[in-house]
Amino acid sequence: MNVLEIMKKEQKMIPETYKSLSIEEMEQRVLEIKKILGTKVFIPGHHYQKDEVIQFADTTGDSLQLAQVSAQNSKAEFIVFCGVHFMAETADILTGKNQKVILPDLRAGCSMADMADIDQTERAWKSMQNALGNTIIPLTYVNSTAAIKAFVGKHGGATVTSSNAKEMLEWAFTQKERILFLPDQHLGRNTAYDLGIPLDQMAVWNPHTDSFEYEGEIDKIKVILWKGHCSVHENFTIKNVSDIRRSDPFMKIIVHPECSREVVEASDYSGSTKYIIETINNASPGSKWAIGTEMNLVKRLIKQNPDKEIVSLNPSMCPCLTMNRIDLPHLLWSLESIISGETINQIKVDDKTARDAKLALDRMLIRA
Ligand code: 13P
Ligand code: SF4
Repeated sequence: MNVLEIMKKEQKMIPETYKSLSIEEMEQRVLEIKKILGTKVFIPGHHYQKDEVIQFADTTGDSLQLAQVSAQNSKAEFIVFCGVHFMAETADILTGKNQKVILPDLRAGCSMADMADIDQTERAWKSMQNALGNTIIPLTYVNSTAAIKAFVGKHGGATVTSSNAKEMLEWAFTQKERILFLPDQHLGRNTAYDLGIPLDQMAVWNPHTDSFEYEGEIDKIKVILWKGHCSVHENFTIKNVSDIRRSDPFMKIIVHPECSREVVEASDYSGSTKYIIETINNASPGSKWAIGTEMNLVKRLIKQNPDKEIVSLNPSMCPCLTMNRIDLPHLLWSLESIISGETINQIKVDDKTARDAKLALDRMLIRA
């Protein structure tokens, strides 16, 4: 089920009363409720969340770290996930039946995850099997729906995140001759290229025309890239890179691998949010950085590293709009609903989908 379908089914809006609360009042109430609930509630927060929310997270991390902590946490009865829908689904799949995962605002989806729906994927798989036989293993970026993860699990494949994509592609090539990589063409292309696969052995699958976008001979294909992308990271362009190079040749450029191949190639470093944070935090005082990733994280890095000069690679960049749906009022609303005993916005993956999706997640987690 994608986010639009979920919203149609069970959308419940935040009560108007939250609009009249001051920030201080809301912060105070969140603190009180966290105290009352103690270890009954656990709040993971992705690095792209706003400061007003991240300040209350019990743990912060990239997608891999958050999947790992969810899998390890068997204590908390309520997991209030400050991130986006696919992350909450992953947490639900990896936690016990007695644990409830809550997404403070159901509108916090991910446009990239919604670029691969299960019907398109089933259709694509059939065509690919007809064209290339049983030579393909599917891998999906965790930024995908539970249904896609289940499809991948059922077909012997695994999930990947931006911090382990290289290891997972290497593993996948020990299983089959070819990889189908969903749904982010850029992470797939950047990772395969780093492993030495030439661009002319990578085809793009267009789910809207149900066909390959590929000029070469079909049996040369090693990697099939789903035609999906992140609507935030596609806003970093090669022009942004050349503008920085021109204005300050000493500035280092670091980007997330959801950026296009040309941007990653023209940059100095690329890696997951965890890698970007560690690189900036460990950089020498006085060093200069242009960062190509989501704006809430870039702003936080600027604040936490006053001894360095840090800018966004794209000066007119905005935060990820769906990540930004999770704000202080929604966090407070979801915590208060736990106290009142009427849990709102629970994310529940059906048992069959969860079982198959877990196969794909476990194949990644044992290698992480
Ligand atoms: P990571 O934190 O795993 O690098 O993921 C980035 C992202 O786009 C999450 O939506
Ligand atoms: Fe999805 Fe991109 Fe936002 Fe991450 S940053 S949640 S991939 S749209």
